[in-house]
Amino acid sequence: MNPKPIDWHRLDEIIETHRHRKWSLIPLLQEVQETYGYIPPESIEPIAEALNMSAAEVQGVVTFYSGFSLKPKGRCVLKVCRGTACHVKGSRSILRHVKKELHLEEGETSEDYQFTLETVACLGACFLAPTMMVNRDYYGRLNPTKVSSVLGQYSKNKEDDGSA
Ligand code: FES
Repeated sequence: MNPKPIDWHRLDEIIETHRHRKWSLIPLLQEVQETYGYIPPESIEPIAEALNMSAAEVQGVVTFYSGFSLKPKGRCVLKVCRGTACHVKGSRSILRHVKKELHLEEGETSEDYQFTLETVACLGACFLAPTMMVNRDYYGRLNPTKVSSVLGQYSKNKEDDGSA
């Protein structure tokens, strides 16, 4: 299955609101990423042109910041914390459990574009260790049962929205 098709008209609108404002590159890229879930490589050229920059400059910024991705991600992006506080509280077994449930390795996206699995150094919620995020939601004090229930919830949502 392919990721959601790109609405090029929407991309034009985003670019227009930032045209000729070179300092606006990061907010523009953030808006593109929020809209599509990634930075479509085809958008680099028009973005560069609108901001009077070279495509290489834009590409350089996109690859420098780990928050930007040139590859489509799943509708649910899981970030499992592997920081020290979470490690001490068993994050390794949490990650192992997530991998097993989703049949994904770190950095991979499921074929149906439902899930992307990532790990991060700290989610800034050490008091909830072991912690993970799904999109913007935090889940803490995890154990394998809780992980299964969270993942089940997001799989269920997929069926509910008819995109299964
Ligand atoms: S170490 Fe995991 S949230 Fe900080």
